[in-house]
Amino acid sequence: MDSQDLTNDSVLDDQEQAVEKSLRPQFFRQYIGQERIKYELQVYIKAAQKREEALDHVLLYGPPGLGKTTLALVIANELGVNLRSTTGPSIEKAGDLVAILSELQAGDVLFIDEIHRLPKNIEEILYSAMEDFFIDIVVGQGAQAHAIHYPLPPFTLIGATTQAGQLSAPLRERFGIVEHLIYYDEADLTQIILRSADVLQVEIEPEAAHALARRSRGTPRVANRLLKRVRDFAQVADQDRIQAALVQKTLDQLQVDSAGLNSGDRKLLQMMIDLYQGGPLGLKTMAVNIGEEQETVEAVYEPYLLQQGFLKRTVRGRMVTNKAYQHLGLTPPQKEETK
Ligand SMILES: Nc1ncnc2c1ncn2[C@@H]1O[C@H](COP(=O)(O)OP(=O)(O)O)[C@@H](O)[C@H]1O
Ligand SMILES: [Mg+2]
Repeated sequence: MDSQDLTNDSVLDDQEQAVEKSLRPQFFRQYIGQERIKYELQVYIKAAQKREEALDHVLLYGPPGLGKTTLALVIANELGVNLRSTTGPSIEKAGDLVAILSELQAGDVLFIDEIHRLPKNIEEILYSAMEDFFIDIVVGQGAQAHAIHYPLPPFTLIGATTQAGQLSAPLRERFGIVEHLIYYDEADLTQIILRSADVLQVEIEPEAAHALARRSRGTPRVANRLLKRVRDFAQVADQDRIQAALVQKTLDQLQVDSAGLNSGDRKLLQMMIDLYQGGPLGLKTMAVNIGEEQETVEAVYEPYLLQQGFLKRTVRGRMVTNKAYQHLGLTPPQKEETK
């Protein structure tokens, strides 16, 4: 499983996309984990409904696969409003945004995925749309140029990003609700796997579900992918019930290790040790040496390795920890450098 599997939905074929859709929770009661976020959002939704207002704008951020798109869908469903979805990079011209905004009805949710990749000029149009529900568009050129004033119905913008740091301050400040999604623990991932197994109509032993959860990189998308692969192995082996041994075999085959690290994670750590004695080094150097985008290292690799204590941040850059050396079967250097 490489980083593409984590970040990219477009690699799925139609059939897989249909399954993906059925795995996606539609309401809070199906959305497992992230308890603090769910609780807060339920309060804000109820309050907005009582006041008969649109929900305040919501910014969701966190690593890929943790349920940002799903949460946007759940919010719209719970509000009982329409959901319009688009992505930052797909809005190229002011006209694209106007076309989307002009279709909204009062209270609707507009979801903009990868909102950190909105072109600057589009972002500026959004400011007045978010704050005062109008847009002014300049049409024509030279002496003919004039502004058109479009009032908009009150709506809720939900923005999702893996890179909250790349959002400009004026845009960030216009979100009244900002939620940071965190990696899921084993108990939540086990529940997600059991629910997905149910949706996919495949039987799995609790012990096997737990083994899978432990190695899902804290990420529901990874958990679901792994489950589907184990299901394939079970199918071919004519096993109608997934057992822990089969999980082990599948994960070994996919090179997912006991800590849930994939080959990309290990490649990064190994490179830092082999070429830089474990660091410190900057994101750019890390990215260049493993042939990935800096954004991918920052949004996909680093957060999990930091959370698991395989990497640490120091003032001079990222460093491999003793725990990582041990995990890779290597002798750690004499003493661990501290900040
Ligand atoms: N809290 C959750 N409970 C159950 N399944 C989830 C949850 N969050 C995510 N998933 C599953 O993981 C998949 C990836 O979630 P998604 O919302 O696309 O992540 P993101 O938008 O953050 O990259 C979804 O298709 C869904 O099946
Ligand atoms: Mg998404």
